[in-house]
Amino acid sequence: MQILLLNGPNLNMLGTREPAVYGHDTLDEIVKRVERRAFELGAEITACQSNHEGVLVDFIQQNQARAAGIIINPGAFGHYSYAIRDAVSGSTLPAVEVHISNVHAREAFRETMVLSAVCRGVITGLGWRGYIYALESLVASIEDKAEEKDKK
Ligand code: DQA
Repeated sequence: MQILLLNGPNLNMLGTREPAVYGHDTLDEIVKRVERRAFELGAEITACQSNHEGVLVDFIQQNQARAAGIIINPGAFGHYSYAIRDAVSGSTLPAVEVHISNVHAREAFRETMVLSAVCRGVITGLGWRGYIYALESLVASIEDKAEEKDKK
């Protein structure tokens, strides 16, 4: 089971970027933890970080046919990118949106969430572990669906 893991702009700076908000872990460390957990769950991660909207859209389009789900921290794109929303929605894959910080406890502009409505769920404010919870819930729901199909 392939899971796409997308990280948007400025998340490449994790570790040094506003550690009081985002913690001290680098994106590389976080992705490795997600990959390890995925392995335990019988899944595999295909990861992409980009500061460019179109690169994230291309990545979804190029990988959607062989993927079972999407975990995405869109960074600031989550607040205004209709292109990423349309790409996630168009893929028809189940998606979970992750934000490391609690976007609802911050500036008012972060209250606008244009991607969330096309995701199964949103995890915000639980730090890097949000990615792990997203993975666990995504894998469980994909397995549930497969079981339901088998029963029919
Ligand atoms: C973020 C929250 C966004 O509002 C912000 O623009 C980010 C990081 C988070 O993980 O908490 O870049 O997505």
